[in-house]
Amino acid sequence: MSLTTEMTPADLAGANPMLRKIIDRIEARKPSKTFAVHNPANDALIADVPDESAAATEKAVTAATRAQPEWAGLTAKDRCTILRRWHDLIMTHADDLAAILTLEQGKPVAEAHREVTFGATYIEWFAEEAKRAYGDVIPTSEASRLQLVIKQPVGVVGAITPWNFPSGMITRKAAPALAAGCTIVLKPSEETPLSALALELLAEEAGFPEGVFQVVTSKDPAAVAGVLTGDPRIRKISFTGSTRVGKLLMGQSAETVKRLSLELGGNAPLIVFDDADIDAAVAGAIAAKFRNAGQTCVCANRILLHASIKGEFLDKFIAAAKAMNVSDGFDPACDMGPMINSAAKQKTRALIEDAIAKGAELSTSGKEMDKGNFLPPIILSGVTNQMDITHTEIFGPVAPIFTFETEEEAVKLANDTPYGLAAYFWTRGMARARRVAEQLEAGMIGLNENAISSAATPFGGIKESGLGREGSRYGLDDYLDIKYIAIGGL
Ligand code: SIN
Repeated sequence: MSLTTEMTPADLAGANPMLRKIIDRIEARKPSKTFAVHNPANDALIADVPDESAAATEKAVTAATRAQPEWAGLTAKDRCTILRRWHDLIMTHADDLAAILTLEQGKPVAEAHREVTFGATYIEWFAEEAKRAYGDVIPTSEASRLQLVIKQPVGVVGAITPWNFPSGMITRKAAPALAAGCTIVLKPSEETPLSALALELLAEEAGFPEGVFQVVTSKDPAAVAGVLTGDPRIRKISFTGSTRVGKLLMGQSAETVKRLSLELGGNAPLIVFDDADIDAAVAGAIAAKFRNAGQTCVCANRILLHASIKGEFLDKFIAAAKAMNVSDGFDPACDMGPMINSAAKQKTRALIEDAIAKGAELSTSGKEMDKGNFLPPIILSGVTNQMDITHTEIFGPVAPIFTFETEEEAVKLANDTPYGLAAYFWTRGMARARRVAEQLEAGMIGLNENAISSAATPFGGIKESGLGREGSRYGLDDYLDIKYIAIGGL
C-alpha cells in the first residue's frame, strides 16, 4: 500500500514496515517523555518520539566512549565490511526510507528517494576511503632517526544535523566518522527524527557494536548540544545548520578545544553572463533555487543577470517557475512540496513583504498554492542592497533578481556577503570562466552546473559558511588526528 498524507498514524505505520518497526521500538522502550512529529503537508501527527534529556545524552556519550577503543582497534577493512552492510540495507529499504522522509520533511518522494540513495553513496565512499588513510615517512637529517606520521581517529564525535536533508546529512557525517574509527552520538533535528531512527535501526542490523552509532532525539536541542559541546570526552563536533547556531557551538566548544566541522549558512550568487547558454542557465537556476522548496544551504539566494540578457532570461525563468507543480510530496506530479513549518513560511513572507515595500516587483503570481505551509515559486525583480532579502539566507522558494553591467561589478556583488558556501555562474567564455571561478569567494563553484554535491567531491564553505569538508578524500581527514613519531637510536 502506498502512503498518503490523509492516513492516520496507525495506517501510516501499517503501510510502511520501517515506520512500524520504529514505532514498535519506541513503544517497547516506554519513554517517560515524548514529542510529536508532524507532516508539514497537512500538520497531521505522524508519530511520537522520545524526548530525551541531558542525562540521556550523557549516558550515550559514556557508551560511545566505552565503545570507541575497540571500534578504532578493528582494521579498516573490518569496519568497512559493517559500513558496506549498512549501505546495502539502506539501498534495500530505500522506498520505505524515502516515504518516511517525505512524511516528516515534505519534499517530493522522488527527491526523497534520491536523497536516501545519495546519502548511501557517502557510506560506500568512506568504507573504501578509510583503507587509504595513509601516513608519511619524513626524510631526516640524522641517520639514526626515523620520522613517521600516522593518522588516528579523533575519538568520540557529537553530531547535530538539520531537517532539510534528514537522511543525507546524517550519512555524510556518520560515514567518515565511523570509517575513521570514531564513535558518534547524533542529535537529529526535532522536526525530522524518524529518518534518523530508521538509519539507527539499520545500523544495528548491519552489525555496528553497541555504543558505536547512537541517536538521541529531543525537542530541546540546546540541552543536548550543551552536553555534547561541554563534555571533554567528546573530541569533535560536526554540525550542519545556521551560522548563528554554529557560532554558539564554536564558543561552547572552546573550553575543551574540540575539533569542529561546521557546515553553516550560505547566500549563494547565481550569475548569468551575456555569453551564457540561456536555456541551460534557466534550467540550472530553477533547480538551484527551488529544489526542496528553496530550503537548502547551497540554494541560489541571489540571481545576478547581465542587463542585456535579463529580459530573455526572466521570460523563460518565470514561465518555468509557473509551470512547477506545488503539491503534497506523495503526489507523483509534485515538483515542490511544502515548507517545513509555518514559522519558516512566515519568515519567508516577511522577506517578500519587506522587499516589495522597498520597491521590488513580484513577477510570479502563483497565489493559489499560498495555503497551509505551501508557498509557490516567487520571483522578485528590482531587488536592491537596501532590502533584507539581499543579506539573509532566504531558505524559501523566492528568487531575488539583480542586474549588472560588467564582470567586475558581478563579482563584487556576488562577494558582498559574509557567507562563502556555494556560487554558480553561466558563461561560454573560457578566460572568463577561469577568472570568475578564481575570484568568487566560495568553497564550491558551479560553472555551467547546478548539481555540485557528490560523495567524491569536497562539500563545505569559507568565510562565515563554516569549517571543514564533507565527502571526498579530504572529508576523512576531518575525523583523523595527525600524530608524529620520532624514532631515535636506529
Ligand atoms: C544543504 O546542505 O543544504 C545542501 C546539501 C546538498 O546539496 O548536498
